[in-house]
Amino acid sequence: MSPLDLLVLFLSVHTLASPVVKRDAPDFAFDGDAPFTVSASDLAASLTCPNGNPTQDSPPVLLVHGTATTGEESWGDGYIPALLANGYTGCYITIPNRSMGDMQLNAEYVAYNLHYLSHLSGNLPTAVITHSQGGPNTQWALQFWPSTRNITRAFVALSPDFAGIDLLGSPSLLNDICEGGLCQASMWQQSAGSRYYDALHGHGFMELVPTTTVWTQFDGVVVPAQNNAQLPGATVLSVQSLCPLRPTNHVTMTISSAAYSLALDALNNNGVASLSRVKKNALSICLRITAKGMNVSVAKDLQSLLENLVKGFLLGTAKLKAEPAIAAYAQ
Ligand SMILES: *[C@@H]1O[C@H](CO)[C@@H](O)[C@H](O)[C@H]1NC(C)=O
Ligand SMILES: *[C@@H]1O[C@H](CO)[C@@H](O)[C@H](O)[C@H]1NC(C)=O
Ligand SMILES: *[C@@H]1O[C@H](CO)[C@@H](O)[C@H](O)[C@H]1NC(C)=O
Repeated sequence: MSPLDLLVLFLSVHTLASPVVKRDAPDFAFDGDAPFTVSASDLAASLTCPNGNPTQDSPPVLLVHGTATTGEESWGDGYIPALLANGYTGCYITIPNRSMGDMQLNAEYVAYNLHYLSHLSGNLPTAVITHSQGGPNTQWALQFWPSTRNITRAFVALSPDFAGIDLLGSPSLLNDICEGGLCQASMWQQSAGSRYYDALHGHGFMELVPTTTVWTQFDGVVVPAQNNAQLPGATVLSVQSLCPLRPTNHVTMTISSAAYSLALDALNNNGVASLSRVKKNALSICLRITAKGMNVSVAKDLQSLLENLVKGFLLGTAKLKAEPAIAAYAQ
């Protein structure tokens, strides 16, 4: 694991408040759902649709970022233009505190915005694509807000950590570091063996909507990557099964041509990607680094990521002495 990987794990950043967007913020309260603790206006204000609202001709895809980043940084130059070129309108949420806080709150942003994006699209069902922590946040939302399932037609999780992170190959090291008081809420929760994962796995952990997960052998952050990509019932594929030896890592997963092709195939086929179908175009897919339509350079992406991480590391938000309590609805 490189110093950058460690920084990815431990950085902490104060987000600047996003500009207040005045929009109507409906209540999405349904029987059987967990209660929202964040206000509807705050939940609604986290959604950005850079190309306007989705339509029947360009249906919705909700994009959910991972730990330590923002919607714009994760998707703005990558999935947003690429999806548009492929006939989908991507909209991203930006979770406060760079998603370093309590993942139970982070999941509220996903649950609310699955409904909200469907609402803004004229009640079309939405697809959702996630990176890293966005995966468990979305699975948690689908689990504890069951009303989201019938408006979510497909779920694609890139490099999800569904099982818990083993730092430097040790199932307890991250937890030991957290015990030393160095971790923010979402780092406590993402370490293998956390109470968060007990709760996530303890309520019928399985595919709840058609789901495809994509992992990379060279992830470097979500370790072990293959184990963390497992979700009973889901289609689980690696980048290297399409493009052998492709050195995609955790960060470049959101711009990888191979990962994007699998995600797009899932969007086009009711949430279930087929390796054999995508492989027919393997030559052109694997010759590219970033996907067609993306407006990114790997070098620029990694450089700005590093700057954000360092900035965040220096600013540092409060670290917690213990993992946040599990909410009553998830016990
Ligand atoms: C973000 O941090 C603030 C200040 O610590 C806190 O009040 C708020 O609940 C946090 N929100 C999330 C989603 O982590
Ligand atoms: C989806 O589920 C909610 C409650 O769980 C229900 O009120 C709504 O009618 C359902 N919508 C469809 C399209 O089935
Ligand atoms: C691509 O990025 C450049 C600068 O980063 C920007 O000026 C340009 O508008 C972008 N193009 C698209 C299609 O998003």
